[in-house]
Amino acid sequence: MAVPAELERKMDQAIARYPSDHRRSAAMPLLHLWQEHFGFISDDAVVWIAEKLGLQPINILELVSFYPMFRHKPAATTHIRVCRTLSCAMAGSFELMENLCSKLGIQRPPCGEHNPITVSADGNYSVEFVECLASCGTAPVCMIGEQLYEQVNPNSIGDVLGNQTSNIKHQASPHPLEHRLIYKNIGRADWTTDIDCYLRDGGYEQLKQALTMSRSDIVNKVKNSGLRGRGGAGFSCGLKWSFIKLDEKRSVYLICNADESEPGTFKDRYIIHEDPHQLLEGILISCYALNARTAYIYIRGEFPEGAKILERAIEEARQHNFLGKNILGSGFDVDVYIHRGAGAYICGEETGLIESLEGRRGYPRIKPPYFPAVLGLYMCPTIVNNVETLCAVATFSDQVTSRLKLARSQSVS
Ligand SMILES: Cc1cc2nc3c(=O)[nH]c(=O)nc-3n(C[C@H](O)[C@H](O)[C@H](O)COP(=O)(O)O)c2cc1C
Ligand code: FES
Repeated sequence: MAVPAELERKMDQAIARYPSDHRRSAAMPLLHLWQEHFGFISDDAVVWIAEKLGLQPINILELVSFYPMFRHKPAATTHIRVCRTLSCAMAGSFELMENLCSKLGIQRPPCGEHNPITVSADGNYSVEFVECLASCGTAPVCMIGEQLYEQVNPNSIGDVLGNQTSNIKHQASPHPLEHRLIYKNIGRADWTTDIDCYLRDGGYEQLKQALTMSRSDIVNKVKNSGLRGRGGAGFSCGLKWSFIKLDEKRSVYLICNADESEPGTFKDRYIIHEDPHQLLEGILISCYALNARTAYIYIRGEFPEGAKILERAIEEARQHNFLGKNILGSGFDVDVYIHRGAGAYICGEETGLIESLEGRRGYPRIKPPYFPAVLGLYMCPTIVNNVETLCAVATFSDQVTSRLKLARSQSVS
């Protein structure tokens, strides 16, 4: 099997993001890279990737058959995913699919199956129904290739097909009576995602402040703020952090849960797309507080643009020495890596997510004993926090901590 040198170089880079005795974690990144290059995962690919990672072919095949985004057969040059979950269905996504299919001469795929990709006779277009794309407030939505299209008019689908650029809607500016905390930069006309913009606005000052504090002081501060996890269960963030021993000898990991797949939820995507450095600053403060030297951002596979934005933000932060070795002269080393999911809703559940990050199917683990803070990633203590929770950590100055208890984002669709 001839694998281009450039592709293999990217694969080696991906493998280096995980501990050398946990190469299996690179299975999904390698599958993504393979599929991006060759269009689908052939039997040869399964064998090749397994050999590359020192695994059995079944270890790779079980991923291809579990994660809907991996394809065992090629899709067309232009692949279109239409969301069929509740908000989009009510806003016309089934009509959208019907009109799309009739325009492209495609037989409509049956509903309810795993991932029935249907290809047009000329091989130029393929369509697929997918579940919630975390854009329910602007339903109905679809993805053409990697681009998200919002508020698509089912009756003028030709407009979208002819338009090569995404029409992502930015969040509206706040109501005059609204006081935004986490969303303070979202929807701002003068706001961009680059680090210079973030720095001009006082970005990374909270990190600098945190690096002058003791770890236990930060944990106590987060605990006293009353900050509760924004991933769903509302568990106290500071209390969860305090489960990590200050003198822990094993490696400690932080995982940012950016899997946002719950139908009706679309708060994290805006943060990732419009204020990535706020999230990164929260992650870095949290890593320092937990003495976690490695953080992974597990981002759902359907956010390819978000993954790129975060990769860029990480690189910018590295250039400013906010991450990497000896950050800001503090003696603390930390690395942050992106890990893309591949379409499985269950990977939002923290133990399923950890299984997935270890290169397996996202089957949840039994609690006890697998509480992540005790036996998490690679059986090491691990804190899993939601995107919004970690952003709240980045705004932990005294004026705002007292408001954090009550403030939380709501998605309305
Ligand atoms: C089926 C299921 C799906 C979940 N999906 C997500 C998700 O997409 N994003 C998320 O942050 N938490 C999700 N959670 C909650 C996580 O398991 C975990 O509690 C959360 O990430 C912890 O972060 P927090 O303490 O900051 O809320 C899910 C839980 C379940 C049971
Ligand atoms: S229901 Fe379609 S984006 Fe959420």
